[in-house]
Amino acid sequence: MSTGHPLGIDVGGSGIKGAPVDLAEGTFAQKRLRIDTPAVSTPEAVCDVIAQVVDHFDEVRSDSPIGVTIPGVVQHGVVKTAANIDKSWIGCEIEKLLEDRLQHDVVVVNDADAAGVGELNYGAAKGHDGLVVLTTLGTGIGTAIFNEGVLVPNSELGHLEIDGHDAETRAASSAKTREDLSYPEWAERLQRYYRVLEDLIWPDLIVVGGGVSKDSDEFLPLLDIRTPIVPAVLRNKAGIIGAAVLATASQQRHGRHTG
Ligand code: BGC
Repeated sequence: MSTGHPLGIDVGGSGIKGAPVDLAEGTFAQKRLRIDTPAVSTPEAVCDVIAQVVDHFDEVRSDSPIGVTIPGVVQHGVVKTAANIDKSWIGCEIEKLLEDRLQHDVVVVNDADAAGVGELNYGAAKGHDGLVVLTTLGTGIGTAIFNEGVLVPNSELGHLEIDGHDAETRAASSAKTREDLSYPEWAERLQRYYRVLEDLIWPDLIVVGGGVSKDSDEFLPLLDIRTPIVPAVLRNKAGIIGAAVLATASQQRHGRHTG
């Protein structure tokens, strides 16, 4: 049976995860597939795994668009930064590489931007028209900015320099683990980060995603900041869902051009 669902694929440091997405519901149309990220995660090695994920969902129609997330800046289909991934990604024309290989229309976007689109359409930021910032707390800090529902891509505010440090090296959840910080200790760092963030861009709402957002009760109530701050709702589904939304929107704008 072929379905018209777009595919979302989330490339992370430890796993590459994909699922067809039901855009009417904002849910997975089939069970997600996860494959370990190759130990040497060069673009070629990751493309091999992405192709396996696509093959696994053979019900997906050949004209279905595919959205892929990468933990770095992606400008017009080209990877520009690689803070926490193999440096060989920089300069990679990943969108073209994947389209040639998969014969599907492909859109490649920053992971936090995709998660933000997921939360804006179906999750914690649904219905919020003002200035919304999603921050993902994981290995790094990813950010997505929306004004009136429009994404300003590649915001990279996890790399703000605060007190002489790249903010994500102090306040990402990897810093909590690395330094064995308690939630109150980590919350002090988060508070410093979010206060700088809110003084610079004055959001109406901050959404906190990343795996640790499932424990948000342990740290969000400790934060004394001006801006309303809420946990993400879609959790680790947000990136896959958001990527599928963006891939579909792009295909609707430009028409099908591959295959
Ligand atoms: C990268 C961002 C990414 C974030 C979360 C940061 O180190 O620079 O592009 O969104 O990590 O993965």
